[in-house]
Amino acid sequence: MLETARVGYAFGLNPEGQLVHTYWGPRLPRSEDYPRPVSVPEWASFSPAAHLITEEYPAEGGPKYIEPCLKVHFADGTRDLDLRYQAAHWTDGTLQVQLRDAVYPLQVTLHYRPHPSHDLIERWTTLHNGGDEAMVLDRVWSAQWHVPAGEQDRLSHLTGRWNDEFRLHREPLTPGVKVLESRRLTTSHHHNPWFALDRGQAGEETGEVWFGVLAWSGNWKLAAEVTDFGQNRISLGLNDWDFAWRLQPGATFQTPASLGGFTPAGFGAASRCLHDFIRQDVVPRGQEVRQVLYNSWEATAFEVNEASQVELAEVAASLGVELFVVDDGWFHRRDSDARGLGDWWPDEQKFPDGLQPLINRVKGLGMAFGLWLEPEMVNPDSDLYRAHPDWVIHYPARARSEARNQLILNLGREDVQAYLIDLLDRLLRQHDISFIKWDMNRNVSEPGWPTAPGDPRELWVRYVQGLYHVWDTLKARHPQVVWQSCSGGGGRADLEILRRADQIWISDNTHAPARLEIQEGFSQVFPASTMEAWVTDAGHEQVPLRFRMHVSMTGTLGLGGHLAHWTADELELAREEIARYKTLRHIVQFGNQYRLRAAQQSAFSAVQYVTKDQTEGVVFAFRTHLARPTTLPPLLLQGLDPDALYEVEGVPGARSGAAWQHVGLTLKLADFESTVRTIRRVGD
Ligand code: DGJ
Repeated sequence: MLETARVGYAFGLNPEGQLVHTYWGPRLPRSEDYPRPVSVPEWASFSPAAHLITEEYPAEGGPKYIEPCLKVHFADGTRDLDLRYQAAHWTDGTLQVQLRDAVYPLQVTLHYRPHPSHDLIERWTTLHNGGDEAMVLDRVWSAQWHVPAGEQDRLSHLTGRWNDEFRLHREPLTPGVKVLESRRLTTSHHHNPWFALDRGQAGEETGEVWFGVLAWSGNWKLAAEVTDFGQNRISLGLNDWDFAWRLQPGATFQTPASLGGFTPAGFGAASRCLHDFIRQDVVPRGQEVRQVLYNSWEATAFEVNEASQVELAEVAASLGVELFVVDDGWFHRRDSDARGLGDWWPDEQKFPDGLQPLINRVKGLGMAFGLWLEPEMVNPDSDLYRAHPDWVIHYPARARSEARNQLILNLGREDVQAYLIDLLDRLLRQHDISFIKWDMNRNVSEPGWPTAPGDPRELWVRYVQGLYHVWDTLKARHPQVVWQSCSGGGGRADLEILRRADQIWISDNTHAPARLEIQEGFSQVFPASTMEAWVTDAGHEQVPLRFRMHVSMTGTLGLGGHLAHWTADELELAREEIARYKTLRHIVQFGNQYRLRAAQQSAFSAVQYVTKDQTEGVVFAFRTHLARPTTLPPLLLQGLDPDALYEVEGVPGARSGAAWQHVGLTLKLADFESTVRTIRRVGD
């Protein structure tokens, strides 16, 4: 039995010695309440016992036709596992359950770490080869989650593409297997390794929801299976497509972690549970206030030089910006996306005296300095590629397909890792840099590794391990740096990258109405403190600056427009809203988030944040375009103490939290109008 504050999870051995899952849901009052595994005989020759029990971590072997978590290929050609329970013990807050194959020297350990205050259970698996012959892992998933079946179960997941990430889909879970995955080397814009499962009736603040994530930044797979006996099984792990791992004698392989949670209080509560966990346990600087930043990309693109950046920095500083980030275009011969990647030193023409004079100027203006990098990439037109053409992912006999004129360095290679660590370490040592935006702008093709030390298909995992190693080493050497993960926007957003990155650039789409929807999808998993949001010039003909500011103020506010072109009135407005954001950001970044009305479903949307002590809150409301004249329905506020008295900015008089929740806040907004209202507790 694993218990968190409100959740129970149980499994055990049935009389046949199989490890069987028996319960996941609300915590039960007595330990005897949790069901014990029972013996289940074969039902028919076509329906073996494995289809009737809910094996905790099914392996491929014996009569069994459901999705297994583990497939192994032994040296003698056997591709069948017979895992037997050995022992279980607790170490450092983690339950370890040891299984062993009946014949072959393979030890499988299931790890369970409950996170009591977050109602989450973290699971991962390790495999150890105790023999003297290699064995090949064909599939090794982190966990299978057994979600009790209801009548109308629904699967919620996030899909999208570049410039349109994090679209929420909610669909019936039907017999068969629904697969979500990435085959792109990164987490991907297209699906995110997250799921929520409900009984068809859960809402934002009501109903039972089971949910989970995989903490991995490379190829992954989620298989949502409804078996022939109507069991729901959600498996998460490394993608087994084009995958193999040669487990050498004496070696151990560890899977990424998967986290699962349950709440009786709707999708909003499921998100808040993940938000708190991410802020407290995942993001290294999860408790630190995020600075208001300026990013140069949409203003100056590759036209980066000292003069163009100083011009922007001066205006940015006068508006209250705290961190000035120079994006792409600053390094050796980087005049377009056709060349330069890999040569990470300042361009001699654009910065004849190096970057330090610009950094000094930025610091003199009272801001910290940040820089863009894309360390994993190389343009064929670069000194690095000319010196090491063999360092990229490729097949010798195939063309090297370029995307955005670039190829991918094989970070699985130790020499590539060492090179990057050395070069970037020097860059960080030689300059006063407080922030790095780590970008990655293409997906892989021709995934060859001619000199691979093991099976070349290990590339998918070794690359990501190499990425983590490079990033972790730089992080350890430069603890002052705040890091941002970007992959052409939201292509690499997951819980494991957030152990390195403090925040994420979630989309290249900065058009505010589209952004509202993307941000809302992102919030299903990630807290506002990790969501960087710039105000740019995109859509300025139609969407007022105040609206654009408010959209970005629901996350970590940044600016990205061409400030030198903004009018005096626009600058004044931006100054006011930045100052206002600074008074609110502790609520937005660290408070509980409530999606009051969904931007992906309605032209009238709203999101609210409330501090943990329920003394302060803020609500943001947006109206995009409503075709017909209409009055807006009241916003039913959430998260307030029902008995306490609260004032909402702009509304005379105080009302109880219960009244704000059940009577609501009535607003008048025209098309492309928005409002920000603070909420203050004024009495008990
Ligand atoms: C893609 C990123 O998402 C953008 O913000 C910008 O950094 C460009 N790359 C620069 O090439």
